[in-house]
Amino acid sequence: MTGTGLVGAAFAATIELARARHLNVWEPWLPAEAVPPGAGLVRLLHLGVDVPAGAVDPAQAELIVQLGLGRRESDRLVAASWAVTAFRGVLAAGHREYGSGVGDIHIGEDSLRFAAAVLAAAPRGRVLDIGCGSGLASMAAARTAHQVLGLDVLPAAVEAFGISAALNPGLADCRAEVGDFLDLGRGDGYDAVVANLPGVPVPDGVPYPTAGDGGPDGLRLIRALWRWYAGMSTADSLVMRFQCPGGPRTPIAVAELAGFMPPGCDILVVTDSAVPMLVRNAITATRAATLDSQRGAEELTEELQRRCAERGWTHYHCSTLRIRRNGSGMRVHVPTPDLVDVRRSYRGTGWSMSVEELALKVGAELRRMPDEFWSVAGLNAIQDALAHLERIYTDLGHGATERQIASSLSDASTPLDQAAAVLVVSAIARVMVRMSLLVPVVGVDAPVTEGRRGMGSA
Ligand SMILES: C[S@@+](CC[C@H](N)C(=O)[O-])C[C@H]1O[C@@H](n2cnc3c(N)ncnc32)[C@H](O)[C@@H]1O
Repeated sequence: MTGTGLVGAAFAATIELARARHLNVWEPWLPAEAVPPGAGLVRLLHLGVDVPAGAVDPAQAELIVQLGLGRRESDRLVAASWAVTAFRGVLAAGHREYGSGVGDIHIGEDSLRFAAAVLAAAPRGRVLDIGCGSGLASMAAARTAHQVLGLDVLPAAVEAFGISAALNPGLADCRAEVGDFLDLGRGDGYDAVVANLPGVPVPDGVPYPTAGDGGPDGLRLIRALWRWYAGMSTADSLVMRFQCPGGPRTPIAVAELAGFMPPGCDILVVTDSAVPMLVRNAITATRAATLDSQRGAEELTEELQRRCAERGWTHYHCSTLRIRRNGSGMRVHVPTPDLVDVRRSYRGTGWSMSVEELALKVGAELRRMPDEFWSVAGLNAIQDALAHLERIYTDLGHGATERQIASSLSDASTPLDQAAAVLVVSAIARVMVRMSLLVPVVGVDAPVTEGRRGMGSA
């Protein structure tokens, strides 16, 4: 039976419909309340809820057991450590307990954004997916390619890839191998390379899952990949997602990148999000603390912040990169939209719209939040703030800063919760300024428009 026979189009449609209604449109893992009670397969495979065996078609149940996605216990189907999600009709399996030291195969917001970039690039011919993880991007590439090879250092990635391939029927020939791309020699024979390598800055001595660890500046593997692509691969194109520290507008890697690549290739970097380093560091510290019995999240956050301050890094940027080898030498960096700018003080001009109308506009703004926001307890922070819109308006209008309001809103005192609350209040302030309910009065930057900028070669 094909993958369609296993889960059917309704599985992907249920997840995608629920995601479309969710504030975070890049969320791979939906909460239980977003899934209709009758959707037995989604409840079992996506949410990890045990279901009566009768809730699932018997042939599907058999395949679920065969693929290791669940097991039978008397008259129930019990969820396994693999969870299944869908994105734009592509299905993939990742570890349910990622980040807690139990499973290494991660599907996060970055995976969905990367898969979107691969779908948009529509690679043809033979494709190599470096750091394939769950295989989501490989399955996306297989929509247009005729052969896809996934490569990952983790044996569990090959297992996940096999399950993902079984879940996606009728695609190109897909297989995966365990291997370190640093050992790749000449990479002849591929038409396209796609990669989403670990890019979290993790200082030496701080434990972190392989799927995220990018070394002290986050660029250890990313630089190595650029070097390999430029010097050893003959593939026409490279599509990748990368993260990187930097200043408020520019990731540090952008200038370097041009220096790696041969003169005639086209390089397009679109930075779709940037968050203050504190946000990234608080997430990193929280994850590292689960693997480090000596130090807690607060202590690790402080250490990470100190190291970033020493290097002058204020922001963490997430970008999509497309390289075409035989182009016209175009080098373009589209910097991040002005999402996380924290202004200082405002004057109120008078409340002139309904709370509901304002809440809708705030909701639309919050959908643009970067991946990291959703990892910092973003939804809780949103609910808290939306319940207090009028008070936030009054306080902002009387000169309270976004940080002051955030700390009065958030009853939790972890760096993660505080970072999320600051981002929400600054997004709300931005909407109120746009609606002319507030006028910025102190420390206001000139509005930053999404623009194009040439890349210097290093
Ligand atoms: C950020 S995850 C991305 C996974 C998947 N491509 C996605 O987008 O969801 C990075 C993946 O790269 C793998 N990886 C890390 N170092 C690697 C290396 N040197 N060679 C091959 N794979 C590597 C990790 O095991 C992990 O699965």
